[in-house]
Amino acid sequence: QRATAQMKMDNMPGMDMGAAPQGAAVLPEGEALRDLSRLANEADTPGLFKAKLTAESTTARFAEGLDTPILGYNGTSPGPLIEAVEGDRVEITFANRIADEASTIHWHGMPVPADQDGNPMDPVAAGTDRTYSFDLPEGSAGSYWYHPHPHGKTAEQVYRGLAGAFVVKPKADPIPAAYGDTVLVFTDLRLAADGTLPDSTMTDLMNGRVGDHVLVNGQKNPVLTVPFGTKRRFRFYNATNARFLRLSFDGAPMTIIGTDGGLLEAPVAADDILLSPAERLELIVSFEKPGTATLSTLDYDRGWMGAGRPADAGLALFTVNVSETPAEPAPPLPDRLRPIAQFGAPAVSRRFVFTETMTMNATGMEMGFLINGAAFDIKRVDVVAKAGQVELWEIVNKTDMDHPFHVHGTQFQVVEHERGGEISKPAYRAWKDTVNVARGETVRLLLRQDRPGPRMYHCHILEHEQLGMMGIVDVQA
Ligand code: C2O
Ligand code: CU
Ligand code: CU
Repeated sequence: QRATAQMKMDNMPGMDMGAAPQGAAVLPEGEALRDLSRLANEADTPGLFKAKLTAESTTARFAEGLDTPILGYNGTSPGPLIEAVEGDRVEITFANRIADEASTIHWHGMPVPADQDGNPMDPVAAGTDRTYSFDLPEGSAGSYWYHPHPHGKTAEQVYRGLAGAFVVKPKADPIPAAYGDTVLVFTDLRLAADGTLPDSTMTDLMNGRVGDHVLVNGQKNPVLTVPFGTKRRFRFYNATNARFLRLSFDGAPMTIIGTDGGLLEAPVAADDILLSPAERLELIVSFEKPGTATLSTLDYDRGWMGAGRPADAGLALFTVNVSETPAEPAPPLPDRLRPIAQFGAPAVSRRFVFTETMTMNATGMEMGFLINGAAFDIKRVDVVAKAGQVELWEIVNKTDMDHPFHVHGTQFQVVEHERGGEISKPAYRAWKDTVNVARGETVRLLLRQDRPGPRMYHCHILEHEQLGMMGIVDVQA
């Protein structure tokens, strides 16, 4: 018997088939880029990072004169930037103060034990606290993030504001300190004229919720001023529910130096980049001439069901004013960043096939986003794996839309993409926890889970995850 996630239009209040209402509220642009607030370390013991994160209702001022009710971590959205160092022990107490809703904190991409990973099986009830503890192993430096993962509520809690960046720094960083290290968290906002966040529509559930504004650290098109000749290190985070960001920095060359799980072996020049939901990239941008350099979106057709595909090209996300004053000379970017080990031959191969179903019947429309024909069941183990064993995972997308595939608890390496019988290899070897599987494409990746316990794998369009496109791999010791 096949389980499908069912969504009946007639029992979802406030639901309509139309395209997303266009936000009438006007957001100010061109303010100076604010630094993300930082989560302070309360420990005095070296090697320990200890802090508290409280999720609660708060308000944000996106548009002049309107206080928008949102959810924040420690009162802010995005949540405070967490920065720890490889080798640290982390103890973060989560206080769930969201009214009447369970939540969790999931440490996206981080090598934490399964019972500390904020899985939907381990909810933190409203009004209660729990402490997450884990060690950051040597070699784990990377650009991770944190967000809620409660059963059936992840998509909503994230678009209401809960997501933050967690940077693990290496003990010795090959990137010159003079480049800085600027985290840019991209989120998506839909704002009604009265300043509220509208409920999701049927279109949002099918395609994933795409808002009207892309914010950078909570601001619309903020501005940073740098001297010309500056090289700057950025960490780009796609923390949107469902927006694919194909980006280019007009007027300033970009070099990719890292992915989700840390640095590449060597820098790679890029004209444009595609950041699908939940992916991260580390980049060096060179501001070589005075004037303006704008980070803006390019068109990317990720597949869209129904009418009202939002325009995605030509949005200015972030502006850099390059002043006439020349920068102090900075050391060059090294040619080699770090070695990335290659996996040995896989002991097991597995295949995961994405399909979608949509049927109209007497009670309304039923929709499902399925993996191997089944919708997520919190009580079912889909795959049993062995800790320490290399596996080849083949993700086959038979739907009309791209799906960013994510696995908890580890970092994988993409081996190849196949489309219409043609195989292409990635441009570089990299540690990743999320990879876009385009329409009609098959992606093959190698991975190894080193810690036992149940791990989620799912589409990171959070509405699809919620409608069933998720499974559990039980890793046995
Ligand atoms: Cu950010 Cu289950 O993921
Ligand atoms: Cu995750
Ligand atoms: Cu999806």
